[in-house]
Amino acid sequence: MRTTLSIIKADVGSIGGHIAPSQRLVDTVTRRIARDGENLLSDFFVGHTGDDIAILMVHHRGVGDVEIHRLAWETFLAGAQTAKDQGLYGAGQDLLANSFSGNVKGAGPAVAEMEFEERPNEPFLMFLADKTEPGAFNLPLYLAFADPMNTAGLLLSPEITKGFRFRIQDVNYVEGDRVIELDAPEDLYGIAALLRDNDRFVVESIRSRHDGDIAAVVSTQRLHNIAGKYTGKDDPVMLVRVQKNFPATGEILAPFATAHFVGGFMRGSHIGPLMPVKQGTGCSYFDGPPIISCWAFCVHEGRLTEPLDPFDHPFWDTVRHQAAEKAIDIRRQGFSGAAMLPYSELEYGGIVKILESLESRFQIVQREEFAAV
Ligand code: F6R
Ligand code: MG
Ligand code: MG
Repeated sequence: MRTTLSIIKADVGSIGGHIAPSQRLVDTVTRRIARDGENLLSDFFVGHTGDDIAILMVHHRGVGDVEIHRLAWETFLAGAQTAKDQGLYGAGQDLLANSFSGNVKGAGPAVAEMEFEERPNEPFLMFLADKTEPGAFNLPLYLAFADPMNTAGLLLSPEITKGFRFRIQDVNYVEGDRVIELDAPEDLYGIAALLRDNDRFVVESIRSRHDGDIAAVVSTQRLHNIAGKYTGKDDPVMLVRVQKNFPATGEILAPFATAHFVGGFMRGSHIGPLMPVKQGTGCSYFDGPPIISCWAFCVHEGRLTEPLDPFDHPFWDTVRHQAAEKAIDIRRQGFSGAAMLPYSELEYGGIVKILESLESRFQIVQREEFAAV
């Protein structure tokens, strides 16, 4: 059976700042998708992390289906109305388009979709991140799909020793999707050279080189490309199939123990460690830190099992503790140097005015030796 997983995510409002959606908002989204998705979906799940709500839709209509995208768009509109009624902060903030035009890509919400022939048992992971950007998945995906230091299966499992094909997108290019396909392990240095730059080059998808099957998909939409200015960080989502022809669940999770530094955090303008958190966790310290949460499912004949929470395990308490220490550490240096994103990636433009206002106060002071010539 060919099954499609579509995850569409948006921030349509939250309580107390950019912390977490209200229960009423989550209920609106859940009720609406249950009602309007009845004839379109074989199953669905609504999850949230930080101030973002994600709808995971299971269906048989393939990726980019107009009706599936319309369903998500209208569901988020209904959610935004609840957010307005309740006076939630940032009500409807990610719904940038005035009307639906066939696909929510380019309209504000983050989208990641994959279609595959269901295996007899089909385990997969859904990741939702908040206060960060799609490039936050670059390092974890590189380690999980290309590095035998992380993924023992690259040495041990006959299905995955053939390696994986990375499709990487240049997210600064706005005329269309500028992509490149590179094979691990042959193109390893090329993959690393691109994925080093989280702001610009982002893993869009990964396929098995054993049978060409889809392994992972990431949302690569950038809000500032759509709105023409920063309206919030892009808070990405990711789907990863696991086991057998793909890395094991634990091999996909292991890289998140690094709590690596990513862009996002306060005002989408700082660097902070990516903290693996339990499902439904909101944001706190310095509007962060950047968080990543995970839902583990099996899908069978289009139906989802109940989700498990892989980050709800004592092991991750240590990682959370380390991530908190890293966050406090980098915050000690405030605005200085590596603590903030480069000028081009700052979410807020206020600094431009400060710099402009200083222009006329600069003086060119001739050095004596020059003056003497
Ligand atoms: C980052 C984020 C928050 C806000 C900050 C200011 O993506 O959501 O850090 O940038 O709370 O929010 P506004 O500008 O809405 O007052
Ligand atoms: Mg927000
Ligand atoms: Mg968010």
